[in-house]
Amino acid sequence: MLGRSLLSIDDLDFADIDNIFNTANVLKPVVRREMYTDVLKGAVLGNLFFESSTRTRISFGAAFERLGGSVCDTTGFTFSSINKGESIQDTSRVISGYSDIIVLRHPDHRAMYDFYSSSKVPLINGGSGPEEHPTQALLDLYTIITEFEKKGKSIDGSNLLIFGDLKYGRTVHSLVKLLVKFKKIKFIFISPEQLSLPSKLISLIRENGHSFSERTNFSSNFESVDLIYATRLQKERIQEDDIGLESYPLDLKISKGLIDDKFNDVIILHPLPRDSSPNAIDLSSDLDCYDNLAIFRQTDNGMLIRMALFSQILGVDKELSNSFRRVKWSSRNIKHS
Ligand code: NCD
Repeated sequence: MLGRSLLSIDDLDFADIDNIFNTANVLKPVVRREMYTDVLKGAVLGNLFFESSTRTRISFGAAFERLGGSVCDTTGFTFSSINKGESIQDTSRVISGYSDIIVLRHPDHRAMYDFYSSSKVPLINGGSGPEEHPTQALLDLYTIITEFEKKGKSIDGSNLLIFGDLKYGRTVHSLVKLLVKFKKIKFIFISPEQLSLPSKLISLIRENGHSFSERTNFSSNFESVDLIYATRLQKERIQEDDIGLESYPLDLKISKGLIDDKFNDVIILHPLPRDSSPNAIDLSSDLDCYDNLAIFRQTDNGMLIRMALFSQILGVDKELSNSFRRVKWSSRNIKHS
């Protein structure tokens, strides 16, 4: 990945993904806070988020700092010069003069490419409109592989249920593009009818020899589903012609009752945030004690994957293990000591 940018999950082939996951495995002692490293000492990340974010922005920033680098960031348009009429190309040229690598989140997918065309340093897509979220797809895939390994399963031949806002959910779009690289998956898509998966992704699934079904509820029975990937409705993107959502059944929710009733030993993922309001179409918190709920292992993996990407793009991945030092501090369970 040396010197490369990551704008779309399509930019990566299996060999790239394998390399990223191998580097992520090397970094586990750092994420477990057993070791620290300063291989990126002196490097600066420009972390530009022009849309809401908590975990993605912080995890990119924390990943860079845990490699010894430092972070300059900005959030929203209000405090940015774009609000004064500056073009995205000018912003890109300026910030790339200050940083060694940039992460950009933007509501318009095309802006990612405009920014890239003027940047002097590598660019990572931190989420672009409803289109793409490649680093989320990587950490989702890494999580699926690690959770499946614990159960002796593999992605080839598995049954994967994807639920929620499949129309505007960019994490779903990037993840599906990644999963079609595997073999003989059975996809089950469940969403309100108005928010079904875009036809170009359905075509991609067909072209790659996978099978799929589309449903609007959980009423029928399910045969050995291995994974549920749940998402929230992207209320900030839902438009006029999607009206009618209010009339949707309020019980369209992944709850403990549903899992006990219809699924056996299924792994549950969610890119987060989940919508915890009472009638939300989303993943319910009554599953929080379910062992197969891997959503927080998934967020922890986000750090690993982002650290691995930074290390590879900036060319320090081969130096990682030699740079590790044992930590002298402990931040674990301080409130219980
Ligand atoms: C997702 C996003 O921003 O697309 N969040 C994230 O980065 N983990 C999902 C969402 O906002 O629903």
